[in-house]
Amino acid sequence: MYKVVTKRFLNDAKTICLFEIEAPLIARHAQAGQFVIFRLDEQGERVPVSVAGYDREKGTVTVMVQAAGRTTKMLHTVAEGDVISDIVGPLGKATEMEGLKKVCVVGGGVGCAIAYPIAKEMHEKGIEVTFIGGFRSADIVILKDELKAASDKLIMCTDDGSYGEKGFTTVFLKQEIDANISENRPQFDRVIAIGPDIMMKFLADVTRPYGIKTIISLDPIMVDGTGMCGGCRVIVGGETKFVCVDGPEFDAHLVDWDMMMKRMGAFRPQEQKAKEHVCKAGIF
Ligand code: FES
Repeated sequence: MYKVVTKRFLNDAKTICLFEIEAPLIARHAQAGQFVIFRLDEQGERVPVSVAGYDREKGTVTVMVQAAGRTTKMLHTVAEGDVISDIVGPLGKATEMEGLKKVCVVGGGVGCAIAYPIAKEMHEKGIEVTFIGGFRSADIVILKDELKAASDKLIMCTDDGSYGEKGFTTVFLKQEIDANISENRPQFDRVIAIGPDIMMKFLADVTRPYGIKTIISLDPIMVDGTGMCGGCRVIVGGETKFVCVDGPEFDAHLVDWDMMMKRMGAFRPQEQKAKEHVCKAGIF
């Protein structure tokens, strides 16, 4: 059993919630870019979530979870002091930062929660970080102060212009790349993008002509998280990869996006059915 020591909603819409969970063994080894899988109870769905932070001394890991499906909505009802059944990790590979000097980190929606610890660690290592955070509207914006502190330049944007700049992350990434060229500044030696698949696919299209290495973090359906079940299979550079052990980060220019998105939609009818479930106790 793992105790929730802190719970805090991160946006006005209360769609994304931070949980700090007592898990000393995970906290001891966790690094930015890795993830954990949790189950609320013994019969529960296994849900992968990225590590958003860790405190090795306190023995806690932090995750930021969007209430998107039935299980994540149930998680949002868990209170401080409550316990969840299982949390395993850290899983996957940590973000590669070796040799980087200037990076653009792009987060879309809850993807900003995953991108934040990566940007923070890079910033602390002295890597120049430009962070572009994109959201649908002001009420779902998260981590305003944290992202500012974790970057040299922060661009926040919303689809409807209700917070920050109006427009999509793709537009602002291209502007920054072009500005580096026109103003004779060093170009980004890496772009790291985390968010909806469609956003990451289009960001890869932006950087491809410039030849800027672009890394994305995938979040497919997972079961065991150890490379055994094949549930998280993707094609990268023509080869089969398993996100849980080979990823979650991959070269965006090599990902077979069509196959990836097709697989992500494979369980949509079941997900929809689960979402339509009405909790008779009125808890979620
Ligand atoms: S989750 Fe089973 S192989 Fe990755």
